[in-house]
Amino acid sequence: MSFQWSEDISVNVRRFDYQHQKLLELFDQIGEQISHCSEFSDFDYLFEELREYANYHFQSEEKVLKDANYPHIGKQIIHHNNFLKKIDEFRGKFACDKDFIGDDVKIFLRNWFYHHVKTVDKQYGDFLNALDIF
Ligand SMILES: [Fe+2]
Ligand SMILES: [Fe+2]
Repeated sequence: MSFQWSEDISVNVRRFDYQHQKLLELFDQIGEQISHCSEFSDFDYLFEELREYANYHFQSEEKVLKDANYPHIGKQIIHHNNFLKKIDEFRGKFACDKDFIGDDVKIFLRNWFYHHVKTVDKQYGDFLNALDIF
């Protein structure tokens, strides 16, 4: 299972498309480690990196949307917080059982990301473009 960015998930704001591509790269690295049954320390490092980058991306979106008085920012924040909470849960499970949930992680990342970008992030594209933010 690999994580691909393509034009059909573009949100039409360059910096956020770029950040989504970076997130997908991190998902891919985690997927690779899961496939190769890597050491716990590798997973923990990748989860930390993913959490940090995801948090950076979410804060970037939320700041731009807040400054633009975007009306649907509440939904963004709820989705973003749920993602971070789930990542923390996965990290906690790795800590007590490293044989676990590789597929759960990959399925969650895939489902959450494509659903969020296609249904929630894509909504802000037209709104920001109308304010000359591309
Ligand atoms: Fe978002
Ligand atoms: Fe996003």
